[in-house]
Amino acid sequence: TSTPIGTRPMMGFNDWARFTCAAQARLDGTRTGYSFQQFMLDQAQAMKDTGLVAAGYTNLTVDDCWMQRGADGHLHGASTWNSGSTQPGFDADLTAYANQVHSLGMQVGLYSTSGVNTCQGVPGGVMGHEQDDANTLAAWTVDSLKLDNCGTTGADRQQEFTTTANALKTATAGTSRKILFNESAPAGAGPASAAKYQTMDWVRGLGQMWRVSPDIAVWHNTTPMASAWDWPHGGDYYEGGVLQNYVDTVALARYNGAGNHNDADMLLIGDNNQLTQAEQRSQFALWSAMGSPLMISTDVRKMAADPVAYAPQLNILKNTDIIAVDQDTTAGGYLASRQSATETSGVDVVVKPLAGGARAVVILNRNATATAYTLDLGRIGFPNTGCARTAKDLWNHTTSSVQGSITVTVGSHDNAMYTIDPGTCGAAAPTGQIQAAQS
Ligand code: DGJ
Repeated sequence: TSTPIGTRPMMGFNDWARFTCAAQARLDGTRTGYSFQQFMLDQAQAMKDTGLVAAGYTNLTVDDCWMQRGADGHLHGASTWNSGSTQPGFDADLTAYANQVHSLGMQVGLYSTSGVNTCQGVPGGVMGHEQDDANTLAAWTVDSLKLDNCGTTGADRQQEFTTTANALKTATAGTSRKILFNESAPAGAGPASAAKYQTMDWVRGLGQMWRVSPDIAVWHNTTPMASAWDWPHGGDYYEGGVLQNYVDTVALARYNGAGNHNDADMLLIGDNNQLTQAEQRSQFALWSAMGSPLMISTDVRKMAADPVAYAPQLNILKNTDIIAVDQDTTAGGYLASRQSATETSGVDVVVKPLAGGARAVVILNRNATATAYTLDLGRIGFPNTGCARTAKDLWNHTTSSVQGSITVTVGSHDNAMYTIDPGTCGAAAPTGQIQAAQS
């Protein structure tokens, strides 16, 4: 028997945060005839060439603007990149595209929305076409569907997500293929509220991963953000920086587990995404400690063209110890501990239980200056019983023997990350964590 799809958090590439639907204008406007399909295939080839596919980033999701509703009523690739562009989009039939993606060792992810029009106004959403679209995806050998919220609200949305989940199962019934269902619904329910918790309860039965926070963004309208680190979401709950999405996601820890993944949205690690190196390290550490999907949104083509210049970013993304923390679903979730009410150091501690009683811990410095911090190991469930445990530093790749506490100086917006193995010393429940939100 094989492992069910979506047991572990998805890893791969999604074009949206870095490129939106205006990628052509922003990056390749001078390349006449360069299609959206070729753009995605070039990113996939770059994922392979940089070793990111081998590191586990195998899902290639194309977000909004790839599709159109054909005159025949069926779902097809868009003939042009987006409504304002004359550049070619996708083949009408995505079978050849899917074959090429599969031949690079990746899986094919497509995007749709629960309403009629996508968030970018493309009339290609599933509403009224749920089974037909699911059958089309199955015929094209698509591996995952990201379903967005535009065009539905409230009960309407729950019904559309339920109908689509069932349609995907029906379309692949009796075959060895499955289509992973990636749901945006909780993000559309806005900040923490009774409606949000209700949504968290129903998405779990339908799919394997779901967006819980605002859109992590590089662009604000047509302008790059000054910083994607602490951009606060506005009243519309539409855009968030790394900190905002971390804070929102960590509060929903109780909904996480094997085959059930809170998605804190895309990784901005890579080329020109408005994060410092320290902030990129911290996004990776936090997302992994939260067990979030790891979907890269950057111009991987640039990293492939100059892997030496981009070695710092590639080293973050290919840190196998930290990827292993993300992918460890043994404990069925994580215990997230943010700064407690009595602590004013500007340092957050996030802890995740791992296989064999080990724990991962991230010490995040939110301050504008370097901060020295002493972590009482009893707080993360390793009380001082006069017995030394082994700590592995996941950024410096060193191991040491620890007892009682760890003291470390962490740079601004940077983090220290360890896995601690209890050995024969035993472990207790972490103390002092802020409890995850209740439904
Ligand atoms: C909103 C979603 O949250 C984003 O991730 C992206 O899919 C856009 N819609 C596309 O319009």
